[in-house]
Amino acid sequence: MPVGPLSRFALPIVQAPMAGSQGSKLAVAVSEAGGLGSLPCALLTPDAMRRELTTIAQLTNRPINVNFFCHAPPAADAAREASWRNVLAPYYAEFDVPPPEAAQNLRVPFGDDALRLVQEFKPAFVSFHFGLPSPDLLRQIKAMGSTVLSSATTVDEARWLELHGADVVIAQGLEAGGHRGHFLSEDLTRQMGTFALLPQIVRAVSVPVIAAGGIADAAGVRAALSLGAAAAQIGTAYLLSHEAATSDVHRAALASDAASHTAMTNLLTGRPARGIINRLMRDLGPMRQGVPAFPLAAAAVAPLRAKAESQGRADFSPLWAGQNVSGCRKASAADITRALTGSA
Ligand SMILES: Cc1cc2nc3c(=O)[nH]c(=O)nc-3n(C[C@H](O)[C@H](O)[C@H](O)COP(=O)(O)O)c2cc1C
Repeated sequence: MPVGPLSRFALPIVQAPMAGSQGSKLAVAVSEAGGLGSLPCALLTPDAMRRELTTIAQLTNRPINVNFFCHAPPAADAAREASWRNVLAPYYAEFDVPPPEAAQNLRVPFGDDALRLVQEFKPAFVSFHFGLPSPDLLRQIKAMGSTVLSSATTVDEARWLELHGADVVIAQGLEAGGHRGHFLSEDLTRQMGTFALLPQIVRAVSVPVIAAGGIADAAGVRAALSLGAAAAQIGTAYLLSHEAATSDVHRAALASDAASHTAMTNLLTGRPARGIINRLMRDLGPMRQGVPAFPLAAAAVAPLRAKAESQGRADFSPLWAGQNVSGCRKASAADITRALTGSA
């Protein structure tokens, strides 16, 4: 049974927000099952966010977590973007697609539009990746009574989050699928595995701590709780659920032997994120200097991804997944949630 600000949901399971792979359907299913469902908003326009939040309000009275990115918007760097398109030039030729003219920013950090929607719908929980929004925005969220969560990849980040107003810290270990939530240092060698990071963060802060990364079954959840976590945040294990919006190529990769080999890559968005190795990662090496800043790198890859996916190929697709895919099952999210608590 989660405690403190997390006592508003029954099971110690937070379904990790997964932008691009799920929407309201999964969030509602997990919250209705007694965990905390999450709506990722990083890729949603304000109109799409409103539609999703309205759907959620119609389908459940249970608490929901609404999740945002809060990165610093990147400065345009024409030379860097041109050089990235040059690296990709052989692929534009092979797939017969024109390179995009200029990078379009598809991921907008939390700002006034999102705040207005949060104020209108008043979700019980609001979570952030990449730090926290400005003190003024944060103050307005907290004034509504929402509990604020954010990811820490180091003990320093956990302390920083507590000091700057987070009510709950998510300890995101290196095993986790998707983007690393770091915001104080880009040095990945400072980051740790979940069960090294979690107890150190539990000792360093007085707010509740949620464990994230590589947790895929009830034994993993119990281990996290016994190391002091108030709950486990689990993403990858939900990716094959009926209610996830995981793409066909992503589902196929997750269900194949390839899923056992993930790596951290900055090629697909400009920020390190863990995913199953695709052709681009294999060809260029998963981490590369000089890639445009997050999220601009994605724009140059987008037409290649679209063309390859139309041919059923995942060569350029972000196949975000954690190191432990053993919990991925084609089942309902309610069944997966129950199994994670050992009650299935
Ligand atoms: C497909 C995918 C997309 C993700 N997108 C987000 C996101 O939009 N916001 C966020 O805070 N975390 C995101 N994450 C990271 C999760 O919050 C969490 O740290 C991770 O899923 C936990 O590790 P696990 O995947 O091994 O369970 C994503 C993870 C995955 C697998």
